[in-house]
Amino acid sequence: KLSGPRESSALVTGQVPAFAFDIDGVLQRGGSKLAAGIEAMRALHDSETGLPRVPLVFLTNGGGHTEHARAQKLSRMFDIQVREEQIILSHTPMRNLAPKYNALKDKSVLCVGRRECARVAAYYGFERPISSEDLGFMYQSSTPLSQYDEQKRRINSEQGIIGNDDAFAHVFAPEYLRETANLGVASIFVMHDSADWGRDIQLISDIVLTEESLPSRLVDPSVPVTPLLGEQRVDVYFSNPDFIWPNEVQHPRYGQGAFRIALCAVYRELTRRELVYEQFGKPQAIQYREVTRRLTHQLCRGQTISHIYAIGDNPAADVRGANGAGKEFVSVLVRTGCFQGDDENDSNDPAHIVVPDALHAVREALRREL
Ligand code: G3P
Ligand code: MG
Repeated sequence: KLSGPRESSALVTGQVPAFAFDIDGVLQRGGSKLAAGIEAMRALHDSETGLPRVPLVFLTNGGGHTEHARAQKLSRMFDIQVREEQIILSHTPMRNLAPKYNALKDKSVLCVGRRECARVAAYYGFERPISSEDLGFMYQSSTPLSQYDEQKRRINSEQGIIGNDDAFAHVFAPEYLRETANLGVASIFVMHDSADWGRDIQLISDIVLTEESLPSRLVDPSVPVTPLLGEQRVDVYFSNPDFIWPNEVQHPRYGQGAFRIALCAVYRELTRRELVYEQFGKPQAIQYREVTRRLTHQLCRGQTISHIYAIGDNPAADVRGANGAGKEFVSVLVRTGCFQGDDENDSNDPAHIVVPDALHAVREALRREL
């Protein structure tokens, strides 16, 4: 069905296979493209239009930028046409929570991760996002060990604006930051890996445990100290549970899951209670509901999906998620990222198919469909 040289999915009726591609460890490692990733993309896209020949989404636990920016970057890297609607980032489902927190007037939402995360939250419709870097900067005595470099902060936010897209950059304006930093925080969204664990653990603890839901303030030593709260009043969300993720170096790096473990351990030590939080990102079911929704949207009249091949490198995220997502999902584990070595399959989260890399994954999927 898919073997025609330039056959577009629009010309195929009946059952078509669909694909959900993980990015890190499948298509790229750090900033470097994987050769098999390039070939896999070539096999599934029309060489003239750059459009996918089958329903296809990119499902990553990465984030820290908009879906629009990620689509542009993937398009450039692989010389294909990726649309924003094909991108599901770890924090994509968080956008559904904007109305809930916008309804609480005169409250901010804290965005932990790179500074750009505040702009992503504004793009999702949150009215008062502020990044942990900016909040820490406004309360420097609360995070006494962190370094704040004016020039670097300016460069960081400029770099975050990919493709000259400066929409929602108002969240970095000095006046906006002054106002927002004084509003109590209504919820905390950990949207990407923290670049300063000490700062972010301190800020989150303060916000969750102070009456004002703000970083600890400078006080007059003659005024009695307000005790920390006995209960958590601020909602906490994490976007990505990955403990490790692969980049260019030999061994995988700590991910947002490792930061969450550190934060929860410190919070438990301080309060003797567990931090209550909600988790997004693979392998959570919400990400896979979004995959099915987006892929179905890409179908042409007369088409249905035969199987969704979810290709990933991390058994605990990609394979577990796909295995739990419904019988149309087929988990495909590659050996170019987290999962390496001689084992035939992962023992905790065995995949339906194990192949060396992304190109073999595509070939095997198409072979099964013929
Ligand atoms: O930080 C991103 C990493 O945890 C995983 O990304 O594309 O492999 O889901 P990905
Ligand atoms: Mg991966």
